[in-house]
Amino acid sequence: MRISVFGMGYVGVVCSACFAKRGHQVTGVDINRDKIADINAGRSPIVEPGLSELLAEVAGGNLQATTSVAAAIAQSDLSFIAVGTPSKANGDLDLSHVKHVCEQIGEALRDKATNHIVVIRSTVLPGTLRELVVPTLEAYSGKKAGQGFRVAVNPEFLRECTAIRDFDNPPFTIIGADDEGTARTVASVYDGISGEIVVKSPEVAEMIKYTCNAWHATKVAFANEIGSVAKIFGVDGREVMDTICKDRSLNVSSYYMRPGFAFGGSCLPKDVRALSYRAMQRDLDLPLLYSMLDSNAEHIRRGLDLIMRKPVKRIGLLGLSFKSGTDDLRESPFVELGERLLGKGYDLRIYDRNVAQARMHGANREYINTKIPHLSNLLVGSLDEIANHAETLVISYPDPEFRSFLPSIPNEKTIIDLTGIDAGVKHPGYQGICW
Ligand SMILES: NC(=O)c1ccc[n+]([C@@H]2O[C@H](COP(=O)([O-])OP(=O)(O)OC[C@H]3O[C@@H](n4cnc5c(N)ncnc54)[C@H](O)[C@@H]3O)[C@@H](O)[C@H]2O)c1
Repeated sequence: MRISVFGMGYVGVVCSACFAKRGHQVTGVDINRDKIADINAGRSPIVEPGLSELLAEVAGGNLQATTSVAAAIAQSDLSFIAVGTPSKANGDLDLSHVKHVCEQIGEALRDKATNHIVVIRSTVLPGTLRELVVPTLEAYSGKKAGQGFRVAVNPEFLRECTAIRDFDNPPFTIIGADDEGTARTVASVYDGISGEIVVKSPEVAEMIKYTCNAWHATKVAFANEIGSVAKIFGVDGREVMDTICKDRSLNVSSYYMRPGFAFGGSCLPKDVRALSYRAMQRDLDLPLLYSMLDSNAEHIRRGLDLIMRKPVKRIGLLGLSFKSGTDDLRESPFVELGERLLGKGYDLRIYDRNVAQARMHGANREYINTKIPHLSNLLVGSLDEIANHAETLVISYPDPEFRSFLPSIPNEKTIIDLTGIDAGVKHPGYQGICW
């Protein structure tokens, strides 16, 4: 393919060289003449293992570099934007380079007769393609997106120092586009490269990139905090984390990685609390560890806000124990939710068959009758009963019984889903907590 890449920084120059090596005809563009001269001479403008050799191989052949936007657009069918998106002083994203390059590309597209695809490779927040890139390209080209040109998002995941290897072995290739044809054309640039091609909406693709980096930052901060608290117990944090990573079912896996409701139960809150307490006693400042219970409490508050948004009084809570398939109520976030709703004067009914059973004859009977009689008195015997009572139904956890009940919930009711019970819910009053 005939490709142009705007921005010959760490991302742009590596991508350009790698695309050229794969047989594409690449034009690299930058405002910095020194970088352009370096690239055309087959010299790397950055320090990156293997890049000098690669540039020496492709420069002057499949890879040309220029400062001319018009020439680059004329001699390519697809442009990647890989300009910088630094932080502003207030922490916000500085999109001035993206805007400026879109203005330049837009102007060049004005005179181009054939269709062109503009792909955002830079890291940009959700909504940037639709709200900044498209309007700018339209204003400067005088053309309409989808007619004179097409757009997509294709975030970059390479790491400096292993950039070429990462380009050739990506974890996945994320393409954000509104139409299949554009996504297919962008995907074809990566023909022969391993890893799944994942096509999403532009906003989801933009969000995926930020989520990856926020997750990586969380991992580093977490490992460092665990290492620091391990050290006060005289334990080698490296030994701990190495072993933690051997568990691929709970620790390093997709488990616990689904947005939904707050954690609870007899272990997680208690153990985070105890570890935090000991670390505080030793004057260790561990903001990530100390913020976990606050983050959890804040999520319960968001759930409550969502439920209270509808001006109704009668609420049904489907599930009271801390998760599906147990009668354990210790530190259940749904107990907290139920108590807050009661405190605010809602007319609440609760359905939880495991708690109802335990209330009659179980080890938990004493706890239920003495600690939460205000909630256990509100338990009803069937889902029909709760649906007849409630104007808003709140689904706590993914119980198969709740899932099969969903289609029979009348349209005029509101369903607040705190767990992601079913991806295909069609009910008009359905709302999810994180989706
Ligand atoms: N560096 C990384 O490891 C990495 C990895 C993944 C994603 N990203 C993202 O990729 C984007 C680029 O990052 P980078 O580190 O390569 O940036 P960089 O600062 O190294 O390079 C940006 C280049 O864009 C050029 N530029 C600015 N305006 C231009 C214009 N109008 N026309 C042509 N060129 C122009 C600059 O001169 C510079 O050479 C950022 O959004 C970054 O967040 C970076």
